[in-house]
Amino acid sequence: MIKRTVKPETIAAQALGWVDDTTRAIAPPIHTSTTFIRDPDNQYRSGRIYARDQNPTFDQAEAVLTALEGGHASLLFASGMAAATAVFQALAPGDHVVAPKVMYWSLRNWLMTFATHWGMRVEFIDMTDPEALRSAMQPGRTKLVWIETPANPLWSITDIAAACEIAHAAGAVVAVDSTVATPVLTRPLELGADIVMHAATKYLNGHSDVIAGTLTTREDSPLWLRIRSIRAQLGGVLGPFEAWLLTRGMRTLFPRVRTACASAQTIAEHFARHPRILEVLYPGLPTFPGHAIAAKQMRGGFGGMLSIRIRGSDRGSASGEAAAIATAAHVELWKRATSLGGVESLVEHRASIEGAGTPVPSDLLRLSVGLEATDDLIADLESALSQAQ
Ligand SMILES: Cc1ncc(COP(=O)(O)O)c(C=O)c1O
Repeated sequence: MIKRTVKPETIAAQALGWVDDTTRAIAPPIHTSTTFIRDPDNQYRSGRIYARDQNPTFDQAEAVLTALEGGHASLLFASGMAAATAVFQALAPGDHVVAPKVMYWSLRNWLMTFATHWGMRVEFIDMTDPEALRSAMQPGRTKLVWIETPANPLWSITDIAAACEIAHAAGAVVAVDSTVATPVLTRPLELGADIVMHAATKYLNGHSDVIAGTLTTREDSPLWLRIRSIRAQLGGVLGPFEAWLLTRGMRTLFPRVRTACASAQTIAEHFARHPRILEVLYPGLPTFPGHAIAAKQMRGGFGGMLSIRIRGSDRGSASGEAAAIATAAHVELWKRATSLGGVESLVEHRASIEGAGTPVPSDLLRLSVGLEATDDLIADLESALSQAQ
């Protein structure tokens, strides 16, 4: 294990410097055993009984993430959704929670359906406006404020420190979906958040080949204990191979995120002046509404995610929606697929996947910038835009 104080890049690259005691291997083993031997005197001194939530392969990924987030402990889950919903399930029916209007759509749907039927009182607000948060808080009743920043797919920025101050003053805890920012750019716990969530499916793993979720807590707390029990009892855990792949993926997190950020910034600036594009939504553009806050709480880049809104054709009668779908149809390098944060760049007509009731403009294409040469990505999108006319 790395003993001295080192930078997060070093922690990630060496996965905390862990070496296998038995073999001296520098890549950790994958533990597939579902169960562990009980001592002859009926004790379990190894500390492990059953692998539903005690698989040793979880240990490295959880420890690396805890170090990267500057937290107390982390838990791996079977998906980002399993991680996020565990936080809400650790509350009680009747509890009031505040969530953003702009957020990952599947979690928003779950909050509007399952969580609401279960008795949770969910209020959706404009989380970018601290005054809206202040007036939504019901001291003593509001138990949780859920933040996502930058938030899918408009990349709205919430001031984490300001939101934490408001939430804590009213006795609520704050959980941040930091999937898009990653610990490379933002450490929400340092800004006052209580829990950080990642869809580790995205940047943490980074190769579009693992579905996983994580939670990291700032401190041991009754809420964290309930979350631990939910994972142990409901069993929404990761398989050992996926946990191992996640550790491997995090080793390259820093260079991947930095490359994606630099490329996304160049792409955003390039298309901001494009005649076929109505608007580029990217926190790294000085004209973006949340830019100043993003510059304060994101270090070293503004993320690899952006969205572009396509103009309708002025030659024909095609709407912005039709032009957006046609643009996506003509890309060759960008892959037409949902998800984000992988090595390959993805393009998605977001309203199509979110369906009826989505707040996403129908002319919007969501772009996840991968690690290809930026010039190639620009040329491919330029060509698709001109063919779509
Ligand atoms: C910001 C964000 N949060 C949560 C999730 C859910 O993660 P998963 O698909 O691993 O359940 C996603 C997935 O797209 C996401 O983009």
